[in-house]
Amino acid sequence: MTKIVVVGSYVVDLMCRTPHFPKPGETVLGGPFKMGPGGKGGNQATAAARCGAQVTFITKVGQDIFGKEALEHFQKEEMNTKFIKVDSEEPTGTALITVDKNGENSIVVALGACGKITEADVMEAEEVIKDANIVLLQLETSIEAVVTSVKLAQKYNVPVILNPAPYQEFPKEILKYISYITPNETEAFELSGIEVKDPQTALEAAKKIYHMGVQSVIITMGGQGAFLYTGEKEGKFIPSYKVEAIDTTGAGDAFNGGLAYALSKGNSIIEAVQFANSVAALSVTKIGTAPAMPYKEDIENFLRGKGLLVP
Ligand code: RIB
Ligand code: NA
Repeated sequence: MTKIVVVGSYVVDLMCRTPHFPKPGETVLGGPFKMGPGGKGGNQATAAARCGAQVTFITKVGQDIFGKEALEHFQKEEMNTKFIKVDSEEPTGTALITVDKNGENSIVVALGACGKITEADVMEAEEVIKDANIVLLQLETSIEAVVTSVKLAQKYNVPVILNPAPYQEFPKEILKYISYITPNETEAFELSGIEVKDPQTALEAAKKIYHMGVQSVIITMGGQGAFLYTGEKEGKFIPSYKVEAIDTTGAGDAFNGGLAYALSKGNSIIEAVQFANSVAALSVTKIGTAPAMPYKEDIENFLRGKGLLVP
């Protein structure tokens, strides 16, 4: 089994369907309501574990019922939970999510404990980071946690995937230690100042981000696919698999978890992006975030059904 370390957020997702997104001051009668494990870090860790990696998840939860449920979830997913810390002051994070009838979502996150991961918390996991095939990070936590993880990974030559979501400012010096960066259109705009609408604009944005020091830029473009740029002239657009989307929340996380898994197994970047596309496609056919992540078997059946190679 390949080893993946994910450092990032755990939050409880409080999800409500809505006929339309409320305008300021408006109350909408929606439902049904669903609660479950979420947070970009936790979702990506869950996706990678279900693909078949041995995952260590580093996060922080509160001393509350949500924190207990978090631990149960990650144990059930057979992860190493040794570095899931309990903060004595902050509550477990929460996300208020509304999903409209097209499966689009809008989210407000209160990070709580997982926004307080310190340098010392990450340093405790030095040995597992040293031993990892890949380290997977997001920006949904303290920047201190992100920077420390990058430094440790760099010290031991472990490749890092940075999913810069949700975007917040961070020291750009770390970009030269990032092997793969996976912004969506919005995050690519934040990084490059270029609006990504199609493969042509994706190439322009990717080139800019590449020249900030990252080795491989993968811009995810929702239902369209992903644009890959590794310094050659043209880059490559890799289309997504068409499925009927019920709930796109967590699709980016499915993509990143799948990407980390395929890369940890030594696949080429193109193969890894194709694999990540299949994990994301399957995740949008189910309601919820972490619970909607597909298992290895589902992914293999899906790929075989399309006549594609199983990496
Ligand atoms: O990427 C989706 C995730 O973002 C949700 O699970 C929610 O927790 C938010 O953090
Ligand atoms: Na989903």
